[in-house]
Amino acid sequence: MSTQSATMGRNRTGIATSKQAAERMIEGTAEFPPDLPGDERSISDVRELFAKEAEPLGTLPPPPTVGGMVSTAVNALKGARPTQFVDKLGERLGFERTGVRLYQALISKFVTFGGFPGGPQLADLEQNMREEHQHLQLLTDVLTRLGSDPTVMTPSADLHATMTKGVLEVMVDARTTFVQCLEALLLAELADNDCWESLIEMARKTGEESVVEAFEEALAEEADHLEDVRAWLAAAQHREAE
Ligand SMILES: [Fe+2]
Ligand SMILES: [Fe+2]
Repeated sequence: MSTQSATMGRNRTGIATSKQAAERMIEGTAEFPPDLPGDERSISDVRELFAKEAEPLGTLPPPPTVGGMVSTAVNALKGARPTQFVDKLGERLGFERTGVRLYQALISKFVTFGGFPGGPQLADLEQNMREEHQHLQLLTDVLTRLGSDPTVMTPSADLHATMTKGVLEVMVDARTTFVQCLEALLLAELADNDCWESLIEMARKTGEESVVEAFEEALAEEADHLEDVRAWLAAAQHREAE
């Protein structure tokens, strides 16, 4: 199935499916009240307690070879917040790697279900996938030049990996259609565009013009991806593209 329309089936999730069962369920709440009195405050208390005792989401390792860092890179970081910049570079690197995987899974859906009028061709998806991969390589190069290990899972990379889990799950779910996967991709491309913009702001503070220019090129490609996905979804839903 390559269109957006949902099919009618035996969906029994709504309370209106059975008026009698719904009434019995409501009666049950009176028959089985909670063991202890209280409200959502106690849930908050537990959350607060755990939050105060928890370790941070992750840390950044010191650069592996401080002595080996090229002097331009050291100077470049003077004007910036080095740990924040490295954290965010690692975040984008992880996201772009996931981006390649997202497009690979999307291509499988395309091959399975085929396209639709106004939707992408296989070559469009492959081009976007290649660009995600180039962005991953660009970030690997920049982190290496800064003396950082590009294989490190930074705290922000960890955060974004968790946030993207749902998108990836949609893509690899055997039941989802090509168009449903495009909806998931929209979420990823929206976040990616915003995050590249912030990364460029941080890169500007380093004074490394070549890095800023390369990042701006990546953002321009990401803006194209976003425009593509919006247009494809509009076509799938028989809407005018924005
Ligand atoms: Fe990307
Ligand atoms: Fe993208």
